[in-house]
Amino acid sequence: MSHTLIIGCGDTGLRVAARAVAAGDRVTALVRSAASATRARRVGATAIEWDLDQRAPEADLLSSADRLVYSAPPPRKGRTDTRMAGVCDALAGHEPATVYISTSGVYGDHGSDWVDEDTPVAPGTDRAYRRVDAENRLLAAIPDGVVLRAPGIYGPGRLPVDRILAGEPVLDDSEHAWTNRIHIDDLGALCWKAVTERWPHRIYNATDGTPTSRTVFSDTIAELLGTDPPPRIDWAEARERFSAMRLSFLSESRRVSNARLVADTGYQFLFADYRDGLIASLRGEPAIS
Ligand SMILES: NC(=O)c1ccc[n+]([C@@H]2O[C@H](COP(=O)([O-])OP(=O)(O)OC[C@H]3O[C@@H](n4cnc5c(N)ncnc54)[C@H](OP(=O)(O)O)[C@@H]3O)[C@@H](O)[C@H]2O)c1
Repeated sequence: MSHTLIIGCGDTGLRVAARAVAAGDRVTALVRSAASATRARRVGATAIEWDLDQRAPEADLLSSADRLVYSAPPPRKGRTDTRMAGVCDALAGHEPATVYISTSGVYGDHGSDWVDEDTPVAPGTDRAYRRVDAENRLLAAIPDGVVLRAPGIYGPGRLPVDRILAGEPVLDDSEHAWTNRIHIDDLGALCWKAVTERWPHRIYNATDGTPTSRTVFSDTIAELLGTDPPPRIDWAEARERFSAMRLSFLSESRRVSNARLVADTGYQFLFADYRDGLIASLRGEPAIS
């Protein structure tokens, strides 16, 4: 029986855990909170409550893993992912089949240009630097590991429904260009494939391949909810109303190609079109909880 270890078993991790349990693996989920531990146990995993900011996981736990799914975010400050650093040290040369969920934020701002995995990383924020640091550490420790660069992850319970129903504004379409997305069920499926199949490259953009603007995305949600499109505001007003974090996401644009992923893995997206993904998400297909 193979042992799948999921470090940071949140919304995506739970989907991988469910697949691993169904495949007959022994599954261990490392999470920070009791609530997340309860959710992991419900899908059949053994849960360990452990704060990666306090100490790295036990070497014995890591060395027992045949597959490792690393889905915890970096800490909130600095340019180093100290959580990933601790895990890589504790691995001590053990190299399970591994996938790390990174972000397409590592590419920085490219306007309307397409980026692929050969595009050099150009982090524009400390948040993106931490992701680059994590990728580098992971691939140094586990050269055969797979890095999935995910864009915005959406799915049931992960849509701005309340904001749209409350009539909150969005930045005008003409002012913030392109964003990219993946449905959480596709990301979970890709993580599982990455640790059970052998893929030729180490880094893949895990995106549905249909970039759009946040405004169009919000308008589509509004349309599907049967409500008016959100009102538009310009940058000047957005700077006054939106959080620094939201503004930093809005200030970057790029179109992310998934051509390498599709060519190498033959993966057929459950939701290649975000509209289909939104319909399924709003229908309330329950997230694993
Ligand atoms: N949101 C997006 O659109 C987006 C886009 C690209 C990439 N990502 C990244 O993709 C990954 C998966 O996303 P997701 O939405 O599935 O994540 P999520 O639901 O937020 O799950 C993250 C998991 O990491 C655990 N964790 C966080 N800090 C920890 C710590 N100090 N020690 C131990 N565990 C810790 C959480 O445990 P608790 O719940 O117990 O705190 C949770 O189980 C994350 O790294 C996320 O940052 C997200």
